Amino acid sequence: MNIILLGPPGAGKGTQANVLVEHHGMLQLSTGDMLRETRKADTELGRRVAAVMDAGELVSDEIVSAMIDTKLGEMGDDVGAIFDGYPRTAAQAHSLDEILAKHGRKLAVVIELGVDEDALVDRITGRFTCANCGAGYHDRHKQPAIAGVCDKCGSTEFKRRPDDTEETVRTRMAEYRAKTAPILPIYEERGIVQRVDGMAAIGDVTKAIEKVLASA
Ligand code: AP5
Repeated sequence: MNIILLGPPGAGKGTQANVLVEHHGMLQLSTGDMLRETRKADTELGRRVAAVMDAGELVSDEIVSAMIDTKLGEMGDDVGAIFDGYPRTAAQAHSLDEILAKHGRKLAVVIELGVDEDALVDRITGRFTCANCGAGYHDRHKQPAIAGVCDKCGSTEFKRRPDDTEETVRTRMAEYRAKTAPILPIYEERGIVQRVDGMAAIGDVTKAIEKVLASA
């Protein structure tokens, strides 16, 4: 099954994708994660990508669609894909149709996480991850059981994303409203959009998504 998780920054796309990977052995295709890998490299492309991300703007459609095409080509045919943070523009939605057809895949459902924007600023500016294993935490909502020690791997090193400042988050949300939200009708016309309350507790959001997948 191939699905899209759609929602503004901080809606919980990455959190829920991680759970689905664990429960269903699907693969998470996060263009944000791919771009964070790209920016690590000391190359012209890495520096360009870093500048765009730190400004909260969108990286070019060609770059992200090429990344998705490559990843799908590397995946086994029997593994489902979770598109997390892609597509984000009408051009990307169009490219995804072509890429899926090329790889003999079909989109089963688009899950839209409905959220309240003010809560998202709090979610994003408070989040941090283990520098070793990537486990996610939050200053107020999800601290490690032992302060300063990762629950999963025991590391004492943590990191924050450079684009998780309040100013950049506001720009990312504006980009979502202007360029990403308008692609929803493309999928609504196909009758494959399902809305889930992203403001519920993390476990309840997961339950709602599982219900959607069971009937997709
Ligand atoms: P990307 O990495 O995709 O960031 P984003 O879309 O802004 O989404 P986030 O990762 O911030 O949020 P999320 O929805 O995954 O929430 P999470 O689960 O972490 O993109 C970053 C940048 O890369 C973009 O700005 C752009 O520059 C570029 N880019 C990426 N894709 C692109 C594309 N396709 N085209 C062009 N440019 C692209 O949750 C957030 C926090 O909330 C966590 O702390 C979590 O624990 C907590 N939380 C989650 N759910 C709940 C809940 N139900 N209740 C309480 N807390 C919760």
